Amino acid sequence: MKVVAINGSPRKGGNCAACLEVLGRVLEKEGIEFEVVQPGARVHPCLACYHCLDNNTLRCIQDDDGVNDIIAKCIEADGIVLASPVYHGGIAGSMKCILDRLMLAAGCGENQLHHKVGAALCTLRRSGGMETYQQLLGTMDAMEMVLVTSDYWNAVHGADPGEVKGDAEGIEVIEKLGRNITWMLKVIDKAGIAPPETHHRTMTNFIR
Ligand SMILES: Cc1cc2nc3c(=O)[nH]c(=O)nc-3n(C[C@H](O)[C@H](O)[C@H](O)COP(=O)(O)O)c2cc1C
Repeated sequence: MKVVAINGSPRKGGNCAACLEVLGRVLEKEGIEFEVVQPGARVHPCLACYHCLDNNTLRCIQDDDGVNDIIAKCIEADGIVLASPVYHGGIAGSMKCILDRLMLAAGCGENQLHHKVGAALCTLRRSGGMETYQQLLGTMDAMEMVLVTSDYWNAVHGADPGEVKGDAEGIEVIEKLGRNITWMLKVIDKAGIAPPETHHRTMTNFIR
């Protein structure tokens, strides 16, 4: 079983990376394969061209910034973890660029993400953790994913790279998240019950 984590921070070796290291150690100890992808700051926003949906390509027409690799890895994975720093009270712009394209290409047509296990975390200096965490969860919530939580909201405090390691409670919460993700993956695997059939929902814009 495999979990792919998207680190939406433009900063390499930062606090999201440190939290994902903690999470990865827990998962790998339980035999879950874990990969972190972090395309950095040079990801493009969605063009709203709808090429991915109109042609059911499961890819973005923009092929030069690594996001298509991320989309493919997410489609393959059993679980997806979204990690973002808090930027002005919400997710980082680079993470928004990734998620808009991932969710449109892989989730909004023939949904490839449904019933995968999903979890989120964010890192922050001081404020905006709840909003950011909820924003990340909300993205997966709309993709019919199975959301896994910890015993507190997954918002870990630290400003300079690595400072999150000093947030003892936050790190404990992430370790528990890792154990819960592992448990959910194993439960689903052991049950061997196919998920309910899913189909494209009727889409309206409220006036027709
Ligand atoms: C552009 C920008 C905006 C930020 N906005 C906030 C904020 O609204 N609230 C906060 O607590 N921290 C804020 N921070 C601090 C980061 O969330 C914090 O340093 C985080 O741990 C960085 O994670 P990273 O090292 O994985 O990039 C901001 C940092 C930057 C660069």
